[in-house]
Amino acid sequence: KQEKLDLIAQRVRAIPDFPKKGILFRDICPILKDPGAVAAVIDLFEEYVRQTNLDIDLIVGLDARGFLFGPLLAQRLGVGFVLVRKKGKLPGPTVSVSYCLEYGKAELEIQEDAVSAGQKVMLIDDLLATGGTLAATCDLMTQKQATVLGCLVVIELKELKGAEKLGTHRLFSLLQY
Ligand code: PRP
Ligand code: HPA
Repeated sequence: KQEKLDLIAQRVRAIPDFPKKGILFRDICPILKDPGAVAAVIDLFEEYVRQTNLDIDLIVGLDARGFLFGPLLAQRLGVGFVLVRKKGKLPGPTVSVSYCLEYGKAELEIQEDAVSAGQKVMLIDDLLATGGTLAATCDLMTQKQATVLGCLVVIELKELKGAEKLGTHRLFSLLQY
């Protein structure tokens, strides 16, 4: 397990002053370039989900980088995957919620029929910064009367205290900076 974490950590690049001055951007692209590192991410997420014995109906992934890991995990677990997107990208009736980013403000959307009342969902994204994105998605799920079982991220930026914004929803992160 530690070997997998070490491999993933080796494949995260820190880029200063992106997308704005003062932000140290954690770049996950090198993970995706290495199939072994991607497998390590999915293995560890799967192991966590299985050991918590959570009965998941759906994996809900966040635009855009939650889409890189979410479908792979959903496939492993034998459950479906649902997309939460930035506003204006999804066709059909949608439900939306607005939120604040570490560097901006935006609106998230889900298709109305993507999640049903009573379904149990696990949220996934590449990274937790301020927690605004995942917290807004938790609100969206609550609006849909779905139960959020927890949030999975590859990277947690500890100093931004995003975990606090998630309230009682549990967070599982592979790497903390
Ligand atoms: C990044 C990241 C998370 C979010 C984390 O995405 O992938 O989704 O910000 O920030 P928060 O915890 O402060 O909300 P971004 O909005 O930059 O969009 P992208 O995935 O489309 O690049
Ligand atoms: N890296 C990648 N995505 C992000 C970051 C970061 O440091 N902060 C907010 N979104």
